[in-house]
Amino acid sequence: MKGSVISVLVVFALVAQDRLAGGLEHRSYDYTKYHTMDEISAWMNQMERENPDVVSSMIYGQTYENRNITLLKIGFNSTTPKKAIWMDCGIHAREWIAPAFCQHFVKEILGSYKTDSKVNKMFKNLDFYITPVLNMDGYIYSWRDNTTRLWRKSRSPGTGNCTCFGTDPNSNFYANWGMVGNSRNCCSDLYNGPTALSEPETKAVTDFLGAHQNQLLCYLTVHSFGQLILVPYGHPNISAPNYDELMEVGLAAAKAITAVHGKSYKVGTPPDVLYANSGSSRDFARLIGIPYSFTFELRDEGKYGFILPEDQIQPACEEAYQGAMSIINYVHDKNFKSAAITVTATLWTTLTALWISSANVF
Ligand SMILES: *[C@@H]1O[C@H](CO)[C@@H](O)[C@H](O)[C@H]1NC(C)=O
Ligand SMILES: *[C@@H]1O[C@H](CO)[C@@H](O)[C@H](O)[C@H]1NC(C)=O
Ligand SMILES: *[C@@H]1O[C@H](CO)[C@@H](O)[C@H](O)[C@H]1NC(C)=O
Ligand SMILES: *[C@@H]1O[C@H](CO)[C@@H](O)[C@H](O)[C@H]1NC(C)=O
Ligand SMILES: *[C@@H]1O[C@H](CO)[C@@H](O)[C@H](O)[C@H]1NC(C)=O
Ligand SMILES: [Zn+2]
Repeated sequence: MKGSVISVLVVFALVAQDRLAGGLEHRSYDYTKYHTMDEISAWMNQMERENPDVVSSMIYGQTYENRNITLLKIGFNSTTPKKAIWMDCGIHAREWIAPAFCQHFVKEILGSYKTDSKVNKMFKNLDFYITPVLNMDGYIYSWRDNTTRLWRKSRSPGTGNCTCFGTDPNSNFYANWGMVGNSRNCCSDLYNGPTALSEPETKAVTDFLGAHQNQLLCYLTVHSFGQLILVPYGHPNISAPNYDELMEVGLAAAKAITAVHGKSYKVGTPPDVLYANSGSSRDFARLIGIPYSFTFELRDEGKYGFILPEDQIQPACEEAYQGAMSIINYVHDKNFKSAAITVTATLWTTLTALWISSANVF
């Protein structure tokens, strides 16, 4: 009698433990759904726990409502300083496809670095700094109910007489701040804040980028919607010194995107393909010397806009992944010339030298 009670309890305990383990540890994350901030934070912990060799996390600031802004650092450990690629998603709250993309991107690189020699090489040469949700306060607010679903800004209260909340974080960076395309009305979605860097979220990114300025080769910031790849600058009268190269790299990325599901992306500066703006993180990154700085505006072109249906998450992320990888590949190869290229170059130099010397002889 006692024995059977105990064995029943043991069986029950085993089943319960298995359920718990299944629920907490082995549950496969659904990348085809939008997720709450709590779910994304738990996912970040899971990525770190499941990939301790290549993933670590770093808190680099707090939001206005005191949440920790956390990034995932992904790459092989190295004893020497590595170059790096930055990616942030969710600076605008309502653009839910953006955090979904950062998660997809992390899943893809972690799923391929062991078998894909190119991604493996990137893990050796580069670190990826990825912030899945930068404007966490706004993101949480956009999840509250359908009256707040279209929230864009941060959640800091207005100053002075203004009773509205929020600053547009992507107008708040110290990059031609307040010069064009912003609003001084704190109720506007384009309000650029009482001062540049008034928002703790933009301050946190600025400090991180500043501290890693010489390390960062590429800055990618992910938004929606419009199907665009934007290059610096948002100000119509200022041009990036490597504008031609940025356009070339951007156009190649757009081509890679189209190859996946046929969607077309436009490439250009904001005044050329969208509207002039200032105070953006993309422009700030370029201004401090990060050579390759791009904004991605993901699907769609306006049919659903910010409320992109969940059945488009997967295809939107698949194509954008190829676009981002096209850029990262370019940046990687330019900075880490492969052995094959070096050999070819050496051979070419030798042949040229031979030809010149033979020409001298005859
Ligand atoms: C890197 O090395 C350190 C020190 O050995 C270790 O604590 C860490 O878990 C390793 N992995 C990452 C991703 O940093
Ligand atoms: C932020 O991170 C610190 C350090 O890990 C931790 O002590 C604190 O509780 C975290 N705050 C929140 C709101 O999660
Ligand atoms: C918001 O949600 C309520 C309750 O679910 C629903 O009745 C209403 O139609 C929704 N409004 C909009 C604009 O989606
Ligand atoms: C703020 O309100 C005060 C009192 O109503 C008024 O005197 C002042 O002009 C207002 N300031 C601005 C910037 O509107
Ligand atoms: C750009 O330059 C033109 C010509 O000088 C000027 O009219 C215009 O106001 C400038 N645009 C901005 C946003 O400063
Ligand atoms: Zn945006």
